[in-house]
Amino acid sequence: MAALLPRLRWPDVGFAIKPNAVWIEVGAGSFEHAEAMARANPTIGLIACEVFENGIASLLSRLAPGDADPASVDVPANLRVYPDDARALLRSLPDRALGQLFLMFPDPWPKARHAKRRFVHPEMIHDVARVMQSGAAWRIASDDPTYQHWVSAVFATQHDFIMTQQTTKRPDDWPATRYEAKAIRAGRQPYYWSFQRV
Ligand SMILES: C[S@@+](CC[C@H](N)C(=O)[O-])C[C@H]1O[C@@H](n2cnc3c(N)ncnc32)[C@H](O)[C@@H]1O
Repeated sequence: MAALLPRLRWPDVGFAIKPNAVWIEVGAGSFEHAEAMARANPTIGLIACEVFENGIASLLSRLAPGDADPASVDVPANLRVYPDDARALLRSLPDRALGQLFLMFPDPWPKARHAKRRFVHPEMIHDVARVMQSGAAWRIASDDPTYQHWVSAVFATQHDFIMTQQTTKRPDDWPATRYEAKAIRAGRQPYYWSFQRV
């Protein structure tokens, strides 16, 4: 199974299509959202970032179930895995490289002294804004009340994005994730936002 990763690892392996846009997912977990998005949008290239090896292993075992020979498995032409810190990838991109960014249920870091580690952060907003095309969407979901207030507060004090959606019902074209299901089972109410690069 691990033998499959070299066939998907960004940036060593480019897309097998010429994508008409590049999207990134930060913290893809078990890659349910990234895989569904890539399959539903075959003309875009999606780079899904995840630092947790077990999450990457979930994707690989879906692509190559059982004893499938990694060399003969069909990997999605437009999905690539960046098995490292998404912030490093974003900082390495040229200006206006991205057509969409997904941040589904980021680690909440609920203690105030850990706020610096939250992906949504005033400094990160500038880094993300630089690589987003004008009109590009940044989708965020969170079930954590501290993070939900934090998202509202951070976006209220910046001018690079406007909020185009905030809802407690997951929009139909947002694939479900494992973490979301866990949050709902535990009685937490997710919020879903879309922000647009101005
Ligand atoms: C709470 S989980 C949510 C996973 C998935 N998005 C879902 O909804 O099921 C957050 C994930 O983000 C990953 N993560 C956190 N910071 C990251 C970073 N800077 N770069 C890449 N992955 C990151 C963690 O390893 C973890 O798997």
